[in-house]
Amino acid sequence: MDLGIKDRVAIVTGGSRGIGRETAREFLQAGAKVMTCSRHGDQVAKTCKELAEQTGGEIHSIEADTSTQEGVDKLFKHTMDTYGTVDILFNNAGTMYSGRFAALTDEGLQTQLDTKLFGFMRMMRVVWPVMREKRWGRIVSAIGGAGKEPDPYMFGSGMTNSALLNLTKSLSTEFAPYNVLVNAICPGWVKTALWERNLGNLQEELGVDNAEEATRLAQKKNSLGRFGRPEELANAVVFLCSERASYITGVSLNVDGGRLKGLW
Ligand SMILES: NC(=O)c1ccc[n+]([C@@H]2O[C@H](COP(=O)([O-])OP(=O)(O)OC[C@H]3O[C@@H](n4cnc5c(N)ncnc54)[C@H](OP(=O)(O)O)[C@@H]3O)[C@@H](O)[C@H]2O)c1
Repeated sequence: MDLGIKDRVAIVTGGSRGIGRETAREFLQAGAKVMTCSRHGDQVAKTCKELAEQTGGEIHSIEADTSTQEGVDKLFKHTMDTYGTVDILFNNAGTMYSGRFAALTDEGLQTQLDTKLFGFMRMMRVVWPVMREKRWGRIVSAIGGAGKEPDPYMFGSGMTNSALLNLTKSLSTEFAPYNVLVNAICPGWVKTALWERNLGNLQEELGVDNAEEATRLAQKKNSLGRFGRPEELANAVVFLCSERASYITGVSLNVDGGRLKGLW
C-alpha cells in the first residue's frame, strides 16, 4: 500500500533503539525523510547510518534530551535547518516508572513527567505552528496501557500516561480544523531495552526469583500470549501518520496483543 507520505519530514524522538528505531526504519521505507535524536549522539548516529544503508532513505540525528526545553528547541532547530519543515511528529523518547507507592519518589515522578508529559507536550508546541500553516500534520505519541487501566505497580507511568491521553484527545479537537491529526498508540509489553531494564523489579513484583518465570507470567496476560516486537508498533505508528489515516484523530490505539481487557 502506498502510504502517501513520500518526502514528508518526520521527527522520531528517541530513535537509537527499540520502537523509535523501527519506526524510523518504516518511515524511510515509506519514502519519508527522518530526523531523530537521543541523549547519546554517537549511538543514534550509528543507528542512522545503519538505517540509511539498509533503506537508502534520508535520515539525520542530533544529540538532544527531550525532557528539557533546551533539548526540544535543539531538535526542532536542527530539523528546520536540515529540511526546512516538519510534517510528522512521533513522540517516542521515554522510559517507564514502575514500583508500588512506597517506592515512589518525587524525583522519580518528576523525571517521568519531564520526559513524557512535558517532553511530548513541548514537542507538540514547537511543531504545531508549522503544521497549522501547512494545513497538514500528523502527531502520534507512544503512551502506554497503564494510562487506561490503573495498575498499582505501574502507577508512576500510569499517572503520566492518563495525562497524555487527555492531552491527545484535547489537542485532536483543537488542531482538527487545520488538518493536523493527533493520535496515540498504547503499547503493552514490547521486547526492547526498556523491558529488559524493568525485569528485575518485575520479578520482585510477581514474587518470582528468575527472569524466565517473570517473562512467562507477563506474557500470559496478553491474549496473544507473547510480547510485541518493535516493528509491530512501528507499523501502527506509520499508518496513523500516513495519508491513509486521513479520517482518524483523537484515537489511542492499543497495540498490546490483547493485554487490556476493557472497552477502550
Ligand atoms: N517497551 C515497552 O514495553 C513499552 C510499553 C509501554 C510504553 N512504552 C513507551 O514506548 C516508548 C519507547 O519505548 P522503548 O521500549 O522503545 O524504549 P527503549 O528501548 O528504552 O528506547 C528509548 C529511546 O528513547 C531515547 N530516550 C530516552 N529518554 C530520552 C530523552 N530524555 N531524550 C531523548 N531521547 C531519549 C533512548 O536513547 P537514550 O537513552 O540514548 O537517550 C532510546 O533511543 C517510550 O516512551 C515508552 O515509555 C514502551
